[in-house]
Parts: sequence; structure tokens; C-alpha cells
Amino acid sequence: MIDPMPAPLPPRRCRARLRASAPLLGLAILLHGCGDADGPRATADPERGAELYGAHCVSCHGGPVGGDISDIPPRHNAEGHTWHHGDCELVDIVLDGLPPREGHPPMPAFGDRLDEQDVHDILAHIRTWWEPDQREHQQQVTDQVCG
Ligand code: HEC
Repeated sequence: MIDPMPAPLPPRRCRARLRASAPLLGLAILLHGCGDADGPRATADPERGAELYGAHCVSCHGGPVGGDISDIPPRHNAEGHTWHHGDCELVDIVLDGLPPREGHPPMPAFGDRLDEQDVHDILAHIRTWWEPDQREHQQQVTDQVCG
């Protein structure tokens, strides 16, 4: 896309920035080692994500419609709250899992089966279920918490 050369993958927390609409800013972030206009979000493949989601996630988290905000496990569609979290937080949850807590069973860790690009592909698929303002909000959160 806009980057003059491929960049090595920066640390996980730095990888969620997408600056396709601001080439100079993207380059500046890249030079600081924390940009990823060519990173896993920018190159995410929602169709591959749909296959991965069907294989690993749908049995607990459900599909594109239905459910509500109080469901456990949470829905990833527009009725849920996944869109409240930044990309880096979601990547960490999927790869590392969540321990059980009161009233909540654990979220299994997928770090032994999926890598970060796989999770970004899954997120690209899930995003197709969200309303435009939910997608915009989640991009803003990602910019704030994953920079
Ligand atoms: C065995 C059931 C199970 C499977 C399979 C599973 N999850 Fe979860 N997941 C959970 C539970 C239960 C929680 C809620 C844990 C809590 O509230 O503490 C959760 C929470 C989450 C969360 C944080 C809540 C949110 O939506 O913001 C994300 C993100 C998530 N899962 C993504 C995934 C993805 C992606 C997959 C497939 C790769 C997946 N999960 C597979 C049970 C599952």
C-alpha cells in the first residue's frame, strides 16, 4: 500500500495502527517502529476469518445476528460488546484466553492454534456484522489503546 518497504513486525501492542488515509503520518509511525499500514489489520482477510470463526468460535459466541449484550459467552455481532475493545486487547484475549470468574466460564486460549494474523482475519470477519458507527468507534478505541 503506502509503505515504501516492508517493516518487521513490531511488538504485539504496537501492531493495531492503521493509517492508510494519512501516508505521512503512517510513515512517521512506521519510522518509530510502531506503525502498521501493511500490518495484520490492513492485510486482514475476512473470508479466511469466516472459516476460522466457523471452526473455532461460533459454537460458543454465535453468528451474525441474535442474542443480546448480557449473553455469556458474549456475542460478537452488533448486539454484543466486542466492538468496545481495541484490536490489541481482542488479540490478547483470543491468544491468551481469560480465566474463569464469578458467573463466567473461561475463554479458552488459542495461542497454540492461532497466530496474530489469524485473529485479525477473524476480527475483519466479525466487523462485517457491526453497524458503521460501531466500526468507527472500534477504530477510535484501537487508535487510543493500541498505539
Ligand atoms: C468454549 C467456548 C468458547 C470458545 C470456543 C471461544 N470463546 Fe471467546 N469467550 C468465551 C467466554 C465464556 C467468554 C467470556 C469470558 C468472561 O466474560 O470472562 C469469552 C470471551 C471472549 C472475548 C472477550 C469478550 C468480548 O467479546 O469482547 C473475545 C474477544 C472472544 N471471546 C473471542 C473469541 C474468538 C475470536 C474465538 C474463536 C477463535 C473464541 N472466543 C472462542 C468462550 C469461548
